[in-house]
This record gives sequence, structure tokens and C-alpha cells, in this order.
Amino acid sequence: MAKVVFEDVYKSFLARDRAAAKPLPKNAPPPGRKAESGRVSVLRRINLTVEDGEFMVLVGPSGCGKSTLLRLVAGLEELTGGSIRVGDRLVNNLPPKARDIAMVFQSYALYPHLTVYDNLAFGLRRMNRPDHRDLDPSSRLPSWADRWLVSATRSLPKALRHRPEQELEIRERIFSVAQMLQIDGLLRRLPKELSGGQKQRVALGRAIARNPQVFLMDEPLSNLDAKLRAETRAQIVSLQQRLGITTIYVTHDQIEAMTMGQRIAVMADGQIQQVGPPLELYDRPVNRFVAEFIGSPPMNFIPVEIKTPRSVIHEQFRLTLPEEWATTLEDYDGKTLWLGIRPEHLQFGPPATKNLPVRIGQVEAIGSETFVAGKLLDSDEIVQARIEPENRVKPGEVMWLSIRLEKIHLFQPDTRLALRG
Ligand SMILES: Nc1ncnc2c1ncn2[C@@H]1O[C@H](COP(=O)(O)OP(=O)(O)OP(=O)(O)O)[C@@H](O)[C@H]1O
Ligand SMILES: [Mg+2]
Repeated sequence: MAKVVFEDVYKSFLARDRAAAKPLPKNAPPPGRKAESGRVSVLRRINLTVEDGEFMVLVGPSGCGKSTLLRLVAGLEELTGGSIRVGDRLVNNLPPKARDIAMVFQSYALYPHLTVYDNLAFGLRRMNRPDHRDLDPSSRLPSWADRWLVSATRSLPKALRHRPEQELEIRERIFSVAQMLQIDGLLRRLPKELSGGQKQRVALGRAIARNPQVFLMDEPLSNLDAKLRAETRAQIVSLQQRLGITTIYVTHDQIEAMTMGQRIAVMADGQIQQVGPPLELYDRPVNRFVAEFIGSPPMNFIPVEIKTPRSVIHEQFRLTLPEEWATTLEDYDGKTLWLGIRPEHLQFGPPATKNLPVRIGQVEAIGSETFVAGKLLDSDEIVQARIEPENRVKPGEVMWLSIRLEKIHLFQPDTRLALRG
């Protein structure tokens, strides 16, 4: 087990498309950071420590650099700058094999011509001994005599075949992992004879069997149906807790992130936006991106004018914020900020100046709760709310929503950073 430390990690790729590398015409708008000198910058200044035994989830929208970051740890891509340490070792220049890391890919990447058993055994055989870490490297290879005996006795009945000790160990390891993941009945099949969910579990099993220092998982549940996904999610979490192996888990599903991660790192556009335990990100997002990405349906944002000491003014409503906002708001008298409020922190209320009048557009009653979306009257602001299912509302009606004031967020429109009360 080991901690993983990223220090000022940068990654850029050569732009494939040569047009992107061409000098821009004189009167063109200034190039975005991405087009600099014909390279596409994909990760910028990643600093992150994943503690020993921790379950860290990386979330972010498609293309933000999650897989690239994992591939850097695994040694499948080269760093452009910075360093990555696994345990005490700087792994920047180590080949993948020497890093003692197992990766589960977005696609299962099973060997199609090998049975499930051999797929599971593959990594173990390459290391030759499951507990190779404790051994002197020179003892990892089977002796020439072992190899000769194995091939010489291959055609004999099973009981007479030579099986070096390591193959027995491998066997034991595979059976225990296969039982754990309920694929022990499938060991003789080829990948093409498996369902998506079964393949996914074999891919997981292959990583677990290796008992690595670090697990890297890149959306390992993306191909499962909802039920299997929830089951496997719980299985991975309990396995990880049991094995205590440092894990970096990539997903763009924020429910997965919230339920699996001890901590979550939210990424956007090649940078880490915020790292913290799930509820900290939910309660105290540092910027508008995190506020919008964590939580479903997403937070509502409404532009409002600030009037000191602590009034929030909109054409349709007026709020007086709790005392603790007064100091923060001193600098914002007459300025516009974004008011952020989560759908679950709005509730039905009576007509009042402090409440939001919303013309209902959509109603989604799912039994346990009801989601409504509509426009704030006489404006283009869309507001979503989660209300008690007993409240029967219809599209076209106007409802009044009251805000739980202790739950509001404020963001600066230009920097998009959150203000703290
Ligand atoms: N070999 C490469 N050459 C050039 N650009 C690349 C290469 N690999 C990835 N990229 C670019 O790097 C960016 C990040 O890709 P990455 O696969 O890390 O995203 P991701 O966050 O894993 O997205 P997804 O959720 O869709 O899997 C993307 O814009 C992608 O096009
Ligand atoms: Mg990816």
C-alpha cells in the first residue's frame, strides 16, 4: 500500500491537427491557452495527495483529463512536467510493469483469446509470484528446470504434471478473487461468451488478483445496467475497504462519486477545482463549477444586487441574509452577485416579497419526491425545486418558493468564486 503524490503535473499532447499549430491570422482573436505552440495542454498544474489506503474519486465532465491523469500514474503516458510519487518512489521514468499498479479500463481490455482463468492469471504470471514484492527480484523467474519440467509433463494426466509452486499460489489467488466477485463459475469461458457485466467483473478481478499497491479504475461500471451498477459499486467499496489498497477511481457520474469516494477531486478543463469529502463539496463548493457539478438536479443561479448590510435584491424578490454575511458583503454594495440555491433548499411558500414567484413549466413526480422547473416571473431565470410529493402542482400555475436562507451561496460573476458568509 502506498500514497500517491502528484506535484505540479503537466501534460500536453502534440496537436494532431496541423491547422491548430499554424500561426493565426493577424486580426484573429487571441488564441486560447490550448493552441499554444502546436501543443494541446490537457493537464495543468495538478497537485494532489492520495493518502495510503484512501479511496479517491476523480470527477469531471468528458474531456477534462481524468483518464490522462490515470494513464500518467500507470505509466501509459509520459509526463510533460512535474512528478508523481507512489509510496517513496518517484515513478516518472519507471516502466508500467515496475510501478506495481493495476488499472481497470473504461473498456474492459480483456485478452479475447484467453479464458477468464487465464485472463485473471495473466498479470500474476507476468510477476510470477503473487507476493513478489517481498522477494528478491532475482527469485521472481521460474527456474529453467521448472519450465522444462512443466513442458515435459504437460501431456501426462493432471495429477502427474509438474506444477511449480507459484502456479498453485496463482490458482488459489484466482479462486478466492473469482468467488469474491461471483465469477467462479465462468473461469473456463472466453470473454466473448460473457455479458458486459461479467466482463467488467473479470476486469476488476484481474486488477484485484494482482494485489497491487495502487488501483486505478477508469469508469469501470460504465457498461453496466442500473441495478448491477449499484451492486458492483457497493462491492468495490467494501472490497477496497477490506483490502485497504489506495484507489483512484474515475467517473463522470456524480452519484457514484458522492457514494464511493472518501474524498473527491473535481476536475474541469485540465485542472483540479476542489478536493474534499463529498459533503464538504456539496455544502461548501469553492466556485460555481463545483457548485453546479456536485448535486442533482444542479444548483440554481440567479443574478442579484447586493445592498449593504445584508440585503439581496431581485426584481421579483428581496431577502435579508443571516447576520454572518454582513462583513463579507461590505465590499459589494450595489454590485451584482450570483445567488446559488439548491433545488432541495426551496420549498412551497405563501406569496411574499421574500419568496420567488415561479411559473411552472415541468413537473416530474417520481413518488418519493417531486421535481418542478419553471421560470421566475417576468424574467428568463429558470428555477428548479424539489418539493414534497403531497404538493400537487400543474404546468402553467404560478407557485411561490421560499428559500432556506442558511443554505444559500453567493458567487462573484467574474471570477466565479464562492464568497463565504
Ligand atoms: N493521445 C492524445 N493526443 C491528443 N490529445 C489527446 C490524447 N489523449 C487525450 N487527448 C485529449 O485530452 C483531453 C483529455 O482526455 P481524457 O481522455 O483524459 O478525458 P476524460 O476526462 O477521461 O474524458 P471522458 O470522461 O470522456 O473519458 C481530451 O480533450 C482529449 O481529446
Ligand atoms: Mg476517460
